[in-house]
Amino acid sequence: MVPTLEQPPKPDTAQSVSTWTGQAREQAVQRMFTAIAGFYDLNNSLLSFGLHHHWKKRAMQCISTANGGRALDLGAGTGDLAILLDQQLGQTGQVVAADLNEAMLRVGLDKVKNKGLSDRISCFQMNAEHLTFQDKSFDTVTAGFCIRNVGNRSQAFTEIRRVLKPGGQFVCLEFSQPTTSILRKLYDWYSFRLLPWIGTVVARDGTGVYEYLPASIRTFPDQERLRELLLKAGFQRVDYQNLSGGIVAIHIAVK
Ligand SMILES: C[S@@+](CC[C@H](N)C(=O)[O-])C[C@H]1O[C@@H](n2cnc3c(N)ncnc32)[C@H](O)[C@@H]1O
Repeated sequence: MVPTLEQPPKPDTAQSVSTWTGQAREQAVQRMFTAIAGFYDLNNSLLSFGLHHHWKKRAMQCISTANGGRALDLGAGTGDLAILLDQQLGQTGQVVAADLNEAMLRVGLDKVKNKGLSDRISCFQMNAEHLTFQDKSFDTVTAGFCIRNVGNRSQAFTEIRRVLKPGGQFVCLEFSQPTTSILRKLYDWYSFRLLPWIGTVVARDGTGVYEYLPASIRTFPDQERLRELLLKAGFQRVDYQNLSGGIVAIHIAVK
């Protein structure tokens, strides 16, 4: 049974959602992803100039296949990373895709079905803060552009660590902070000027997602701070690598 969602409160501004916590944030995030699910993939490709495919492939290269076995993709959304994970792990692998939002997951389910992977990738609607999987049940956990949207990140990290086997890896692909001031200026112009304009004028967006996106990136911990949060959650070793000049970073945390 899919739970029915209550009508979430309307935020004053989309930016303010990125600073919200708890249920109000969760509901606002739900509403945005429900509204954009149908054209998420297309928008993602247009707005990142196709780069998100490259970023996702790079995240896969960080996964040690020696770990093999069972992998969980959190915030799986429309399923790109789960499908790449399946390719990476091969015949002996098993992939679980989990996401808070039903509409995103349904698009992902269709993709998985169309690729004939239904018996290899299972999909669950679930909050990263409250995973219903058993302790030490995964060799790898991935999260692509998900953690930024989670209200209680520390709790999500604790949960991710709990479901990982000792030695297992958490690979977190997320927007981060550009490393040079020129790139930061360009990126800010794109995020805070061009993107909201595209949202209002071109996409005629009424969800506020084009304002939420840059605001949520701006308030998300930078590379070093995210590394510290992962260490604080109990991961033994955390390394990261910047992609596209730090616009995106991959953190690899080992339990
Ligand atoms: C920007 S999309 C990324 C989708 C996909 N991973 C990708 O890289 O294309 C973020 C996803 O995270 C999900 N999400 C947000 N908060 C979540 C939470 N607390 N638990 C699980 N999923 C969450 C959203 O529903 C959405 O599908």
